[in-house]
Amino acid sequence: MLTDRFGRTVDYLRLSVTDRCDFRCVYCMAEEMTFLPRAEVLTLEELQRVAAAFVALGVRRIRLTGGEPLVRRGIEQLAAGISALPGLDELTLTTNGARLRQFARPLRDAGVRRLNISLDSLDPQRFATLTRTGQLADVIDGIQAAREAGFQRIRLNSVILRGRNDDEVPGLVDFALHNDCDIAFIEEMPLGQIAEHSRGEAFVSSAELRELIAARFELLPATDVTAGPSRYWQVAGSKRRVGFISPHSHNFCHLCNRVRVTVEGRLLLCLGNEHSVDLKPLLREFPEDDQPLREAIVAAMAIKPERHHFSHEPEEQLVRFMNMTGG
Ligand code: GTP
Ligand code: 5AD
Ligand code: SF4
Repeated sequence: MLTDRFGRTVDYLRLSVTDRCDFRCVYCMAEEMTFLPRAEVLTLEELQRVAAAFVALGVRRIRLTGGEPLVRRGIEQLAAGISALPGLDELTLTTNGARLRQFARPLRDAGVRRLNISLDSLDPQRFATLTRTGQLADVIDGIQAAREAGFQRIRLNSVILRGRNDDEVPGLVDFALHNDCDIAFIEEMPLGQIAEHSRGEAFVSSAELRELIAARFELLPATDVTAGPSRYWQVAGSKRRVGFISPHSHNFCHLCNRVRVTVEGRLLLCLGNEHSVDLKPLLREFPEDDQPLREAIVAAMAIKPERHHFSHEPEEQLVRFMNMTGG
């Protein structure tokens, strides 16, 4: 079992399969991005070895992330390989949704159990502005495709920014309920330098959003508490939930159960800190032997930080963009 200095058990891995994305969301990326050269990126076999090593060490849930995981060629094969690992309870994936018409069924067949799909606006023009390159219709169709493919637990993710999409919150909840999805509202995190808005000015707290939603929908505290940063409320009269991920206003670090691996093979011990261990040299130096890899993962638990310290001050933003981090 993986346990850190603060007694937290790590049983959840977020595995980034690419830093690339077909969108350029304004809170996530700069307009012009340089992506990793191919040689720096782990191969599908190396990603599978990383997943297997974590599962052998007690990880029970893996979430595939990006960038956008569905732009990685061979993602279905990778998902099938990982979901077949003995000891893994659940494989999930976070996506921008634009390619789900093509990929929803193959992913489900490959053993992916749940999908989180980003959706920040239901207005086509605004959606195009917020994602810079995305088309709302593709994502709406992708959500539909995921439902048709039999995904029962779909969660929408909305990053809410004041003055940009805060007026859409009730509409997004309505849309989620009509499409049998949960929805989580996320406070923007200061990852990477962005130019289009001031993160301080755009900040909307989860508490404010909850009040706004509670004026339209009856929210009951959810009984099934899940490990993870989202705090859920049950919508009265519906099976669906509204969640809030509040890295600024409600710290959840003491419950942290997770680590991340970037597509370069860097094991990140915390989303909001730079503490990391480079696993790629071990993968490449010992292609037939996972023991050094496992030992490095166990040893890394000693440097998992106690908590993140996010700030809206521009000079305190982390240099790492979210697409490099895997969310
Ligand atoms: P579960 O796997 O069900 O726990 O979902 P999730 O909410 O972790 O996954 P998702 O990929 O949908 O991420 C939603 C948001 O939560 C993203 O903005 C993530 O960056 C953020 N998030 C996930 N884990 C952490 C964490 O440990 N710390 C912080 N600060 N944010 C996190
Ligand atoms: N702050 C908060 N959430 C972010 N995401 C991307 N960048 C940020 C950020 N800076 C969200 C996406 C997606 C999830 C994986 O992370 O909207 O839903
Ligand atoms: Fe792509 Fe997701 Fe980042 Fe948007 S938030 S640019 S969809 S990786």
